[in-house]
Amino acid sequence: MSKIIASNFKTNHTRKTTLAFCNHLENFLNQKNIPHQIRLFPPNTALLDNYFKNFKIGAQNAYFTKNGSFTGEIGEEQLEEFGIQSLLIGHSERREYLGETQVFCAKKFEYFSQRDFEIFYCIGESLSTKKEGLEKTLTFLQSQLQGIDLDYPKLLIAYEPIWAIGTGISATLEEITQIHTYLKQILGRIPLLYGGSVKSQNIREIFKIPSVDGVLIGSASWEIESFKQILENSLEK
Ligand code: 13P
Repeated sequence: MSKIIASNFKTNHTRKTTLAFCNHLENFLNQKNIPHQIRLFPPNTALLDNYFKNFKIGAQNAYFTKNGSFTGEIGEEQLEEFGIQSLLIGHSERREYLGETQVFCAKKFEYFSQRDFEIFYCIGESLSTKKEGLEKTLTFLQSQLQGIDLDYPKLLIAYEPIWAIGTGISATLEEITQIHTYLKQILGRIPLLYGGSVKSQNIREIFKIPSVDGVLIGSASWEIESFKQILENSLEK
């Protein structure tokens, strides 16, 4: 069955190494029959023209403007030049380190949804919220959906518990199942991805969870050989 495999490069790779990664990946996918939809989110300095046959390039961030005076940001016009039509919004690292509030995330969503972008919208609780129990966690996750139009057809949600990001320790299959089952009740047909220490060793088991429509991967996707192994292991056996 076709699922979504998205790679978030975060602040890794240069223009040169991104191009080498993409060329390698394109060749690999030309030879393999991988049924999944693949997305790569390189840093903004390494955005490439979206000409690859087997995957699409998206942006990790953009400001809700066509152009203007927003020093350090890029807008719709800069994405347009590369034919970029996919965007991450609401990643926990931007919420935490860049201070992006829910209102700010919702504004970004509104702007880019009106322009027909495919939006990977991220939600996820911290360890301290998780420790407060399931009810608090679910209420928190729901609060991160405030201002997001769940009827938008090109919306995907990535559930990424912060405590599982970059730690090497994924949420357990039971934890993913529990939260995803709840989220599915709210989200209905919206594709639901899991993110947080997904790697070649756990992708097969994670993909067996019926409520997992895809994954958003950080560290284990940055090396091409590791990413290829994830793709190989994503195949049903
Ligand atoms: P890791 O796969 O490194 O845990 O990162 C997940 C993530 O934040 C993807 O957006």
